[in-house]
Formats: sequence, C-alpha cells, structure tokens
Amino acid sequence: MNRVLINELEFNKPCTIKGWIEKIRDSKYMIFLVVKDITGKIQVTIEKEKMPQIVESLKGVIAHSVVSVTGTAVKSEYVKMGGQEFIPTSLEVLSVAEALPIMDDANIDNKLDYRWIDLRSDRNTLIFKVQSCFTNAMREFLVKNNFIEIHTPKLIGAASESGADVFEVKYFDRKAYLAQSPQFYKQMAMAAGFERIFESGPVFRAEQSYTNRHSTEFSGFDVEFSYIDSFEDVMNLEEDLLIYALQKTKNEYGEIVKEVFGTEIVVPKKPFPRMTLKQVYSEIVKYGYQETEEDKLDLSTEAEKLVYKLSMDKFGHEFMFITDYPKDKRAFYHMRKNGVPQGYDLIWRGVEITTGAQREHRYDKLKAQADEKGLGEDVKFYLDFFKYGCPPHGGFGLGLDRITMLLLNIPTIKEVEFIFRGPNRITP
Ligand code: 4AD
Ligand code: MG
Repeated sequence: MNRVLINELEFNKPCTIKGWIEKIRDSKYMIFLVVKDITGKIQVTIEKEKMPQIVESLKGVIAHSVVSVTGTAVKSEYVKMGGQEFIPTSLEVLSVAEALPIMDDANIDNKLDYRWIDLRSDRNTLIFKVQSCFTNAMREFLVKNNFIEIHTPKLIGAASESGADVFEVKYFDRKAYLAQSPQFYKQMAMAAGFERIFESGPVFRAEQSYTNRHSTEFSGFDVEFSYIDSFEDVMNLEEDLLIYALQKTKNEYGEIVKEVFGTEIVVPKKPFPRMTLKQVYSEIVKYGYQETEEDKLDLSTEAEKLVYKLSMDKFGHEFMFITDYPKDKRAFYHMRKNGVPQGYDLIWRGVEITTGAQREHRYDKLKAQADEKGLGEDVKFYLDFFKYGCPPHGGFGLGLDRITMLLLNIPTIKEVEFIFRGPNRITP
C-alpha cells in the first residue's frame, strides 16, 4: 500500500504510514506507539488480544526503531495527540534501534559525535525547516529581482583576499586552496556582464577561533550587483532582502518558533539605523565601555554586543549598519572615497552577520590598493577581470549559520550547522 504522510491522513481510509517510533508504552492489554515522520506524529493503538502478530513483531523493539504500519486513522476523543489515533492491521519493523548512546541532556560536544541522532528531535528538525524557509525566501526575492544564481569554484589556485586564513590542499603536484569567500568570482560575474548574481555555498576559514559564532566551514550567502551609485544601494538591497525573508519566515514559523525557542521573529523596519565606527565608540563609552587603541580599527566582540543595546536604546531597532572603518582593516577591493572604505558591517542582535561594500572597479586604483597591501602576484588573475571593461558594482556576504543562530536565539553556532566544523572537529 502507498505510504501516506501523517499530516495528510484521512479518517477511515486504509493506508500505510512509515516513520520512527518516538515512544513505546506497553501496558497489560494495549501497546501504544507514537510514530513520527517529517510532517507530524500519531498514536498507534494496538490491542494485544486482537493483534498477536504485531505484539510478536514488536518484541525487543525500542524507541527510535523504524516501522511501517498499515491500518486506518480514526477520530478519538480520548487521545490527546490531535484527537486521532491509528488502528493497525499489520506492522513491519524496518529497522531495529540499539539503545541510544546519548541522552537528551548530554552536552553539545557529545551530541555532535552522534549528530544524526541529535538531529532527530523535533526542536532540531525545526532549526533546519526554518533555515530552509529563510534561504528560500531570499532566493525568491532575488530571482524576482532578476538575480542569477551562480556556483563558483571552491578549489582555487591562489589564496584569495588576504592569504592569512586559507586551507591549503594538495592539488596533484601543486598547491591549491579552499575558497574563503566567493568574492573574486562573484566580481568576475560583474565583469562578465551578469549584472545581478547571488550564490549560496560553503566558505572555508582556517581560523583557530573558539567562539560561539565561528566555524572553519560555514554557509555563506553572497550577493553582488552592478550599476550602483554608492554602497548605500548595497545596504538598501540588503534591507529589502532581510525584511522579505524575515517576514516570510515569521508568517510560516513565527508561532512555533515562539513556542519552541521562546523568541519572537521581529520583522525590521526600513531604514536600518546607520552609524560610523567612531560614533559607535563615542556612544558605547557611555555604557562604561573602555576604549582601546585597537578599537579605532574594528569592533571588538564586547563592542559588538553593546551595539545591540545601543541600537535598541536609540532606535528601537535590532539591526545596525556600521560604516567608515579605517582602510587598514578592510579588504583592498573596497572602493575608497577620501581614503575611507565605502563599505559596512551589519550587526544583528550583537553579532556581525554581514560585510558589504562598493568595490573598486577601476583597474589602476584597484591595482594600487592591492600593491599597498602587498598582494601582488596572488591577485594578478583577479585584477585582470577589470582590464577589459567592468561596471561599477558592490555586494555583500551573509553568514547563514549566524543568522539562524540569532533568529532562533540559540547560544552557539555548533547547534545550527548541520554538521559543525571547528579547529578540533572534523568528524562525523
Ligand atoms: O565578513 P566576511 O569575512 O566578508 C567576506 O567574506 C566578504 N568577501 C563579503 C563581501 O561581499 N564583502 O564574511 C561574511 C560573513 C560575516 O559577516 C559573518 O556573518 C560570516 O560571513 N562569517 C562567519 N560565520 C561563521 N564562522 C566564521 N568563521 C565566519 N567568518 C565570517
Ligand atoms: Mg566581516
């Protein structure tokens, strides 16, 4: 008999359901199973006297085993779970589970050793349903606006951007590297006349970071587009994109997210507040923050957290764009005006989720900026993209894992990556 998904069951119509046994309760006359599939769960009620073969086939079977059950869904006012139950005529055990190696209250690192089991919980499945909804919404928004989705190589011949934090791999008799950003190739798409592109793909960073928001491989969502007048256009597009995706996610998952994660999905209003790095520091010292020399160049982790407080206090807004970083800390490809990089970071709930910028598209200026950072030969192939005509352009890179973590108020990135990769973890 054809399999029917649990949320599509019709009453009094014989069919087969397939799924995990979430719970088994064995009483004197009855066995109750909670069977769950990706759409929902239902109680399977087995009367022992009537169904001796089923009782026999369930001998030694524990929760997390996989079953196929044929029978009929019926209304039942006694069953709490949705007021329905499934009365079986036959049951087949498709896979017998051993006793689980992890408990619900295991610490995150133990859980990650058995990630496939950890992911079975309703809560953890929900993380990925929400993430999938969010990325699909971004895709939908961009495709509607004439963006083309591309896939750039992750094996690259020269260390991109700065060279400091790339993984080296053996490439036959040569060295290659894992891309730490699609940056160069998304700009190549601009030189190729694509005008508007995006890419969702893996990003590799050989950083020994042990924070709650760093991993060595994460999912990046990158956007690049041509004929902008300034990086204001880039920020505007990012605002529209995030508003669209958050609204869609709230519509579909707002209620259940509140119930399971205890957090509200807030759809932000336009425009998001904007402040220069200098302004931020002059404001957060009022919260008792001690400014250091380093802070002139970048936002410290603590300062990032205070940006959240600042933007809530001052603007009642969860997001803030920070602009006017000094050129020493910004990539050489950011366009500069009066020496100031024409880019920004976007901070959400105290964490950087994006870096974006208008790019320098003029060959001579770009080459000079690359030389100034001592990049020379490594970026020669990239500089060539700008020799034969290239429109002004800009874009940004979003960290998807960070967005998921912040959206669901989950304390660490380890829990929101399908499989986390960090300096000490490369299995399973
Ligand atoms: O800020 P990043 O390094 O910017 C770039 O890669 C530029 N090429 C983007 C551009 O178009 N200008 O990375 C982009 C985003 C960060 O804002 C952050 O959300 C995320 O990627 N990210 C990380 N996420 C998890 N683990 C890490 N180690 C991350 N490093 C950056
Ligand atoms: Mg950044």
